[in-house]
Amino acid sequence: MLRVGLLGAGRIGRVHAQAIAAHPKSQLCAVSDAVADAAESLASEYGAAVRSSGEIIADPSIDAILIATPTDTHSDLIETATQAGKAVLCEKPVDLSLERALACKSVAEASGQPVMVGFNRRFDPSFSSLKSAVDNGEIGAPEMLALTSFDPAPPPVSYIKVSGGLFRDMMIHDFDMANYLMGQLPQQISAVGSSLVDPAIGAAGDVDTAVVTMTYADGRIAVIKNSRRATYGYDQRIELLGSGGLLQAKNILENAVVKSTADGVTGAKPTYFFLERYLPAYRAEWDAFVQAALSGAAMPVTLDDGVAALAMAEAATRSAQSGRPVGMDEVLKPVAK
Ligand SMILES: NC(=O)c1ccc[n+]([C@@H]2O[C@H](COP(=O)([O-])OP(=O)(O)OC[C@H]3O[C@@H](n4cnc5c(N)ncnc54)[C@H](O)[C@@H]3O)[C@@H](O)[C@H]2O)c1
Repeated sequence: MLRVGLLGAGRIGRVHAQAIAAHPKSQLCAVSDAVADAAESLASEYGAAVRSSGEIIADPSIDAILIATPTDTHSDLIETATQAGKAVLCEKPVDLSLERALACKSVAEASGQPVMVGFNRRFDPSFSSLKSAVDNGEIGAPEMLALTSFDPAPPPVSYIKVSGGLFRDMMIHDFDMANYLMGQLPQQISAVGSSLVDPAIGAAGDVDTAVVTMTYADGRIAVIKNSRRATYGYDQRIELLGSGGLLQAKNILENAVVKSTADGVTGAKPTYFFLERYLPAYRAEWDAFVQAALSGAAMPVTLDDGVAALAMAEAATRSAQSGRPVGMDEVLKPVAK
């Protein structure tokens, strides 16, 4: 049995609490949150204790820490938790700064403790089936990837302000998915971004609509489209063209009914947002973490994966700001040891 402390009882912390409590080999023992009421209400649902993050990390009876606090706290908490001998599952992204994330990776590696980064989309049943088909050579060599990721509505501007911007906060999932499916880092990234959804997001210095084009050393291409607004729900699609065919993962709809009449053909909307769409993925992600933590096997998503996606987000941010393509070496060389 894995005894777990959860740090952060916000939107995603509540999802993880459910997965921890539902798993037969994990137990939610303690919850912390900067807001006492948030921790109290979540802990009481699961019979867990309310403690400070420091107390939970220092508790020798806790085996694993799940970090679901705001991004600017992740590196510090990963370092403290791994140095205290805990296995860690940390939400994406690893940090707002690539340099800080790399320093955190060194500290975590020196501790010898396993760390998994919460790229939940790898555990989505449709996306992982698509990945298996790629690995089995079912479409030959993958050549052109298109990822679509539109949220139904933007988060509060208070969240945007500490999020690191769309490329680090939102598109980071797509950068990781591109790495997962294409099997290597791109060579160069070009990005454009606009604030079309909410002027307050633009005023906060961020964009809410963006397109990224990535080129690989062998000539392959990937395109990512993000928007913080899709009036019809959470739009999450993958299209991968290979030398021997096409793979598509379409949206999961609220129901499977299609109505055909003289007026046209209509169906249900996509599920509303990440809580609905990725619930099975969060559960599968947690199961993969528990299996690895209990068996000592390698974590299926590592800090290296987290750093790679963050480096791509950094390149995209620079490209959108400068209006020119940015090579991954421009981002990685200055921080390489
Ligand atoms: N994988 C995903 O699908 C996914 C989805 C949403 C958010 N996230 C990530 O999860 C993190 C949290 O996002 P959220 O949407 O749940 O935010 P949120 O604001 O809803 O929740 C964060 C919570 O952490 C608490 N908190 C702040 N500092 C703390 C500290 N030092 N110790 C303990 N608690 C602290 C806040 O009071 C808040 O309740 C972010 O890094 C975000 O990028 C991932």
